[in-house]
Amino acid sequence: MNLVNRLILSLIQSLPKPVVKRFALRYIAGEELDDAVRVIGAINSKKLMGTMDVLGENVTTREESLAAVRECEAVLHSINKNHLDSNLSIKLTQFGLKIDEEFCYSNVKRLLDIAYGYNHFVRIDMEDSSTTDATLKLYQRLRAHGFEKVGVVLQANMRRSEEDVQRLIPMKPNIRLCKGAYLEPEAIALRDGGEIRLNFMKLFKMILEGKCYVGIATHDDFLISSAYQSIQEMNLHQSDYEFQMLYGVRSKLRDKIVADGHRLRIYVPFGRYWYAYSMRRFKENPQMVRYVLRALFFGD
Ligand code: FDA
Repeated sequence: MNLVNRLILSLIQSLPKPVVKRFALRYIAGEELDDAVRVIGAINSKKLMGTMDVLGENVTTREESLAAVRECEAVLHSINKNHLDSNLSIKLTQFGLKIDEEFCYSNVKRLLDIAYGYNHFVRIDMEDSSTTDATLKLYQRLRAHGFEKVGVVLQANMRRSEEDVQRLIPMKPNIRLCKGAYLEPEAIALRDGGEIRLNFMKLFKMILEGKCYVGIATHDDFLISSAYQSIQEMNLHQSDYEFQMLYGVRSKLRDKIVADGHRLRIYVPFGRYWYAYSMRRFKENPQMVRYVLRALFFGD
């Protein structure tokens, strides 16, 4: 992290938590499930779909994992009860991936059993590269056991993603494609923004040519207009894809995509671990600090 980013980060860390919370609330629904329900309800009223994310990752005890599973179960019940157009996104390290893969699998399966009762879809987020193999293995196992309404994420910055797409295509996965949020070693990840964009579009076309559903998760103008072009050239139907954006980011662009006739889903994080989550994101990816400052001073 360069000096300027380090200074900004230590400034943010020195601010009282309530002040940081005021900034964080731009990107996070709040601490409680009711907050997320309210935000998703407002999103739905604008003809946008939602996905809820209970903040938390890298838990170290089985008790914490089970608590996270219970919170996610409550989300599923609440989506149903409130008739929300939303699905759920989960992180496997929150479900105990780093404690015991078998334990994690049983936690995810327990959740998917509930989701299937409601016909809800659950997306497994992709975390840093130390989890990629285990995440894809668990996803493939779920699909092999007949769970259809579950999706995965691939990151365009990862050199391995092309092979992952090729390997997954036969099982017709529902893939969220994003650039990748984690700083990874150059040996396994692209670092140059232009190369990541090119790889994003290459993977995007591979996924569509493989007749798989894709969530186009980006706020990048170049990628969005390239996706528009491919959608037209490939004569795609609305049911073949959706755009996805993070809550609080580039709302004018979001509205334009919907006005242009595309479906768009907003990723809405919430939960009591918002502070730890925000700080970790800032430390992992200095770019985040700049986004926040730019949004604060110039809006989006
Ligand atoms: P880029 O970083 O170039 O952003 C384009 C513009 O959008 C910026 O200039 C800025 O204005 C704005 N912007 C982007 N991100 C912002 C932010 N966080 N705050 C404020 N402004 C922002 N990653 C991952 O590794 N695993 C995952 O599972 C997911 N899941 C996911 C879901 C959804 C719905 C989205 C939109 C993104 C993810 N990501 C992710 C994150 C993704 O990998 C990537 O880090 C960010 O989307 C930023 O990349 P962009 O493509 O938006 O381009």
